[in-house]
Amino acid sequence: MNNCMNYESVLDFYKEKSVLVTGNTGFKGSWLTMLLLHAGAKVTGYSLHAPTQPALFQECGLEADGRFEQIYADVRDLDALKQALNTAKPEIVFHLAAQPIVRDSYKDPVNTYATNVMGTVNLCEAVRTALDENGAPVVRSFLNVTTDKVYRNNEWSWGYRETDVLDGFDPYSNSKSCSELVTHSYRNAFFDSMKDSAGEPFIRVSTARAGNVIGGGDFSNDRIIPDCVRAIMSACENTESGGRIAVRNPYSTRPFEHVLEPLFAYLLIAKAQYEDSRYQDYYNVGPDDQDCVNTGDLVSLFCDTWNRKADPVISWENRAEADAPHEAGFLKLDCSKLKQTFGWKPAWHISEAIEQTVSWTRVWMEARSMPERERAKAIWDEMEKEIRLFLREDGYLGDRVS
Ligand SMILES: NC(=O)c1ccc[n+]([C@@H]2O[C@H](COP(=O)([O-])OP(=O)(O)OC[C@H]3O[C@@H](n4cnc5c(N)ncnc54)[C@H](O)[C@@H]3O)[C@@H](O)[C@H]2O)c1
Repeated sequence: MNNCMNYESVLDFYKEKSVLVTGNTGFKGSWLTMLLLHAGAKVTGYSLHAPTQPALFQECGLEADGRFEQIYADVRDLDALKQALNTAKPEIVFHLAAQPIVRDSYKDPVNTYATNVMGTVNLCEAVRTALDENGAPVVRSFLNVTTDKVYRNNEWSWGYRETDVLDGFDPYSNSKSCSELVTHSYRNAFFDSMKDSAGEPFIRVSTARAGNVIGGGDFSNDRIIPDCVRAIMSACENTESGGRIAVRNPYSTRPFEHVLEPLFAYLLIAKAQYEDSRYQDYYNVGPDDQDCVNTGDLVSLFCDTWNRKADPVISWENRAEADAPHEAGFLKLDCSKLKQTFGWKPAWHISEAIEQTVSWTRVWMEARSMPERERAKAIWDEMEKEIRLFLREDGYLGDRVS
């Protein structure tokens, strides 16, 4: 199979489609909600309130946006999820809601497992039991967003493949391995035997294991780009440590990629399996080898790019912690399957991903003193500009974004 990727037709596909996104108030979920609105989809969001302050969901105006349904509820609440699916009747479901921070998972493993594992069980169950008036399933395509950290990490120098052992080390990574297994079980035990009129599985499900995502609008704690942004903010406020970024693991290598890379891959996979059940599978989504850098190099690139374009000057220092909880040292993904199946390739090298992240951060910093609506518009415009660039650079620009 080769579904020859074309992002123009991917966006077109979502026009008028009913789509439910869990975790849409988060960093990736906000970008995804925006892309779906851009494509003309009928969106329902199902999430707790935005997890950070500030949050992209508010900053770009999505929270006040009346063009989609927002349900503020918990994925641990099966009844609420069932009700949401029975009301929205989504044909397509993207599952992003999670407790996604490794260090927080050490502090609160129980909540991490409850959200990431039982949240997935509940959503699978709500997908399985959402039926139309004729008793047929309503969901055609379901994508569970997991992570590059689902694999047992052997600290080897080649990329993990989809067939490698699922056995994340810390509670976050491991809960996502479990979320994968839950999804596999629901497919084997239920979805595959719920046939459509052509004898194909009605509900198609895939998981996507993305690398570490960077981009404008991430304000999470214990993530490196948000740490850079916080250093800029504290320099503006003239605090003592302002402008200096403390890097805990400068030598750990990660598959960093711009947030638009996995999001377009998710849109692509969900569309492909909607149209042909043979595309349901487990996919890695990460950068090419030359763009897998260590955290120190990533921060240097961010500082250089920022210092060339804006004030205040920022720099970083190595602050390795002796008693830090275990985190993998070396992590890379083999994305041959996604490439082979869809003709997919990353659009941006790491330098471009950083360039766009710096650009977003500058716009956001400059817009901070504006009235709320003007600020949201400036940020929304910046995000639309980045989407246009992303599509253009790979030659997938459609009329929609010209
Ligand atoms: N950011 C990355 O680098 C990265 C990399 C790989 C995979 N992922 C995965 O992508 C998804 C989104 O990550 P993110 O970085 O946008 O995270 P985020 O923390 O910004 O957003 C998490 C979202 O989940 C929601 N949520 C949390 N607990 C919930 C609950 N109990 N019920 C309902 N909603 C709940 C939050 O309200 C928010 O909308 C997660 O599944 C994460 O594991 C992220």
